Amino acid sequence: MPSPGSYIEQHRDRLVQELLQLLQLPSVSADPAFSQDVLETAGAVAQSLVHAGCENVEVCDTSGYPIVYGEKILDPQLPTVLVYGHYDVQPPDPLELWDSPPFEPVIRETETHPEGAIFARGACDDKGQFYMHVKAVEYMIRENELPCNVKFMIEGEEEVGSVSLGEFVKANREKLANDIILISDTGMIAKDVPSITTGLRGLSYAEVTVTGANRDLHSGLYGGAVANPINVLAKMIASLHDADNHITIPGFYDRVQELSRKERDLMAEAPFDLEAYKKALDIDAVYGEKGYVTNERNAIRPTLDVNGIWGGYTGEGAKTVIPSKAHAKISMRLVPHQDWQEIMQLFREHFERIAPPGVRVSVKPHHGGEPYVTPIDHIGYQAASKAFEATFGKTPVPQRGGGSIPILALFERELKSKIILMGFGLDSDAIHSPNEHFGVWNYLKGIETIPYFYKYFTELSAGK
Ligand code: BES
Ligand code: MN
Ligand code: MN
Repeated sequence: MPSPGSYIEQHRDRLVQELLQLLQLPSVSADPAFSQDVLETAGAVAQSLVHAGCENVEVCDTSGYPIVYGEKILDPQLPTVLVYGHYDVQPPDPLELWDSPPFEPVIRETETHPEGAIFARGACDDKGQFYMHVKAVEYMIRENELPCNVKFMIEGEEEVGSVSLGEFVKANREKLANDIILISDTGMIAKDVPSITTGLRGLSYAEVTVTGANRDLHSGLYGGAVANPINVLAKMIASLHDADNHITIPGFYDRVQELSRKERDLMAEAPFDLEAYKKALDIDAVYGEKGYVTNERNAIRPTLDVNGIWGGYTGEGAKTVIPSKAHAKISMRLVPHQDWQEIMQLFREHFERIAPPGVRVSVKPHHGGEPYVTPIDHIGYQAASKAFEATFGKTPVPQRGGGSIPILALFERELKSKIILMGFGLDSDAIHSPNEHFGVWNYLKGIETIPYFYKYFTELSAGK
């Protein structure tokens, strides 16, 4: 085989420059002000697939942002890999915390990335990572090294809950038929510790509003005599965890899959340095559910977190006011076999029940998604494992991840195939944060590793 390495060496500058161009487009799906840019990005992604040598490239309309499709079918008898990724990105706020503008990508060296890292919103999540696949396929097509069929499905609404994708998948089962779904939208443990994500958490996301009086009140005239919705909301939120940081919603843990001691011991073998973890985050202690260690708390245990809270006066100086309303956005990360709609219902009932007299509570569900687990005895996992061995010289560590890609369970159900999460990002890449970046080394290593997945998956599929 092939040496993707020498292709990468030869085309290094172009591979990096093309990604920088893609990162200039502010494809923020959450904010309608960027809708033209999101659409333009879909077009650019389609162009990149054409350029890579894909056929039947289409920008498929949906009721939301389009899904970009492209394929290279060599022979229907051969296995087919379906690559999924997303070209939309998180909002870049707060802008003032970026060291360089989020949509003017620059390469800077960091301690972790002495070879340089690309700083831009979406550099790692997920433009840099899905683009590795475009470039890996470009290499395989141009150098006649593509051993099987490939299809791309790159969406523009992942960061807002993949609203249109479910419908698209259900309506296009034939077109999307595949033997394995390959995704790079997760991370690995470290540059010298490759890992394969074997599962992701689900999500239930709600917005709550507590309403007191019918208008904002003078806090002297009325203070002490009527409910302050912010005080009440803070109390209600505080009561959602007990002293051991267990979640207090009745029924919340009923379906949670408890891991055996053996499985937990296996998890504990993955390299993890608690001191380095604390240092990287500037914290003097970790915090979480009693009875579990950090790597369990952020992967195999469900959580409840306030993502934002607002109300009342937050401007300059002081204003004496008892606000009429208080709001919070609350997310719950779920593990197998919790059902996000059931959890949403339990949350809603509980939150309404604990509201004291004097306020009204409303709970508005946002999006959700089921957890996902990949079997490690599948040939897709073995192909990924061998691919990492080929380019890292090490067997990757299987590891459950804490983030969510809510559409995965639907892929498996509708398309009847397994999903392999081959991520090349690092936790320190600051995805969703200011100064998001992706190591140039990681980007190129991804492009180099992916072709081996195709080779081994094709061989293993043929029973070799
Ligand atoms: N790529 C991330 C998920 C991720 C990142 C998983 C790193 C594991 C490691 C994805 O784009 C994401 O941000 N998902 C959201 C959910 C979505 C509905 C907004 C999340 O996990 O918060
Ligand atoms: Mn992502
Ligand atoms: Mn994301």
